[in-house]
Parts: sequence; C-alpha cells; structure tokens
Amino acid sequence: MTQLDIVDVGHSYTPGFEEERWALKPLGLTFEAGKTYALVGPSGCGKTTLLNILSGLVRPSQGQVLFDGADVTALPTKARNIAQVFQFPVIYQAMTVYENLAFPLQCRRWDKARIDAKVHQVAEALDLDDRLGQPARRLTADDKQLISLGRGLVRDDVAAVLMDEPLTVIDPQLKHSLRRKIREITEQFRPTVIYVTHDQYEAMSIAQEVLVMKDGRAMQQGTPEQLFEAPSSTYVGYFIGSPAMNFLTVDRAHGNVTLGAGT
Ligand SMILES: Nc1ncnc2c1ncn2[C@@H]1O[C@H](COP(=O)(O)OP(=O)(O)O)[C@@H](O)[C@H]1O
Ligand SMILES: [Mg+2]
Repeated sequence: MTQLDIVDVGHSYTPGFEEERWALKPLGLTFEAGKTYALVGPSGCGKTTLLNILSGLVRPSQGQVLFDGADVTALPTKARNIAQVFQFPVIYQAMTVYENLAFPLQCRRWDKARIDAKVHQVAEALDLDDRLGQPARRLTADDKQLISLGRGLVRDDVAAVLMDEPLTVIDPQLKHSLRRKIREITEQFRPTVIYVTHDQYEAMSIAQEVLVMKDGRAMQQGTPEQLFEAPSSTYVGYFIGSPAMNFLTVDRAHGNVTLGAGT
C-alpha cells in the first residue's frame, strides 16, 4: 500500500479555458496508505477526472501526482501498479470465476499455492466460493461485477485500488450487502482505496474519509462523523445526511435573531 499525493493538480479538457471553467480546479490532497477514501458529489463535479488523474488515464493540465513521494505524473497507468474497478464489469467471459480471479496473480508470477490461497480467501469474502468452477459468462450482471471487485482486491501488492461507481449495475437489494463486503475486505486487506460515488450513503458506509466535491472543487474532507456533525458549508450540510439538513432564513438585528420575520 502506498500514499498518494496530488500537489497543485488541476485539469481542463479544453486548452485555454480560464481556471473558473476547469473540470478540476487546482488543489492538493493526501491519501494516506491503507485508508479507504470516498470522493462524493453530484454528476459532473470532477470525481472521475480526479480518479483518472491518479490512475494515469488523464494527464493533468498542471501539478504533480506522487506515489510514496515519487513523481509519477508522466507515467502511464500500467507503470503505476494500481487496480481499477469501473462501473461495468471487466471480466474474461471465456474463463471460469476462479481463472478470472487468478489471472492478475498469474500475470505477477505468483506461485500456484499462493494464488490458490488468495483466490479462495477473496472468493469467500465475496461469497463467490461456491461458483469458482463456473464459466464467468453464465453469471448475472451482479455476480460479474463481484468478480471485477474481486479482481481489484485480489492483489495485495498494488499501490492503490481505484473504484469508479462500482455498484451502479448492482441490484438495489444487493447493494447493501455489497457495501458491507467492500468495507470488510478493505478492513481485512488494508489497501489504499479511492472510491468514487454520487451516493452519499454509499460514501459514508464504505469510507473512513470522505471528500465532498462540487464544481471541480474539494468542499470538505473528513470522517463521516465529522462531515455529518460539523459541515463547513450549507452545501455539505445539505448533501450529507438523510433526510438532508433543513435551512431556515432568519433576520439578525440588534443582537437578536428572528425566525420567520416578515411573514
Ligand atoms: N473527456 C472529456 N472531455 C471533455 N470534457 C469532459 C471529459 N470528461 C469529463 N468532462 C467534463 O468534466 C467535468 C467533470 O466530469 P467528471 O470528472 O466525469 O465528473 P463526475 O465523475 O463527477 O461525474 C464535467 O463537466 C464533464 O462534462
Ligand atoms: Mg464519473
């Protein structure tokens, strides 16, 4: 596991835009080794852009990306030793569930016994252990995404696991138990995880630290409790919590606050 830092990183997909219109306004962040972070905010606020800058799929317009202090800004994804889980399952249809989970480890030349132990450990954590011999193509969309999650979590030598809305295709009934499984697995294996979601409930239940974003800016970072109990803006107060916080307009005059004045 690795600490990820971004230093004064900003990004515009359109060259020449003034900073106000950038998809990601320049910011610095530290993701500590072995912790699980969620990036949360409405669609279009820059979550995927930030994640793709960390993975190397997007080269930022400015700033540096550091992995354990080493500058990886110019390195391609495959040189960053990360695992990625996307919205839709990425699996090998022709392989069995077992082979899908084992493949990332075979690529790293792990020996057979070590691969076998690890595949069973992850399969058990995801409740896939009774289907290891089945061809992956026969599984439901939910189960295929479970394999993608397993493939993301099976290597314990990755710098970080980056997940972009991985529960989108999952049946709402199953989401609840999967959130718990992701939490259990990350607590057990302790990789550095950055988890993107637009769902504040998902963010709060999976991550140790939540970063709330809006319009390409980081609004506030903290534990779920800190965000819930001490939001630093009305935006965070409204976004976090279900039902959302209520805001009332008051008049303030002569040291008094009047609620519902003028009505
Ligand atoms: N490849 C792209 N080219 C141009 N604009 C993009 C591209 N990807 C994202 N954007 C824009 O950047 C902003 C942030 O997008 P994104 O990071 O995908 O947000 P999120 O993942 O939070 O929904 C949005 O305004 C989006 O339209
Ligand atoms: Mg996105």
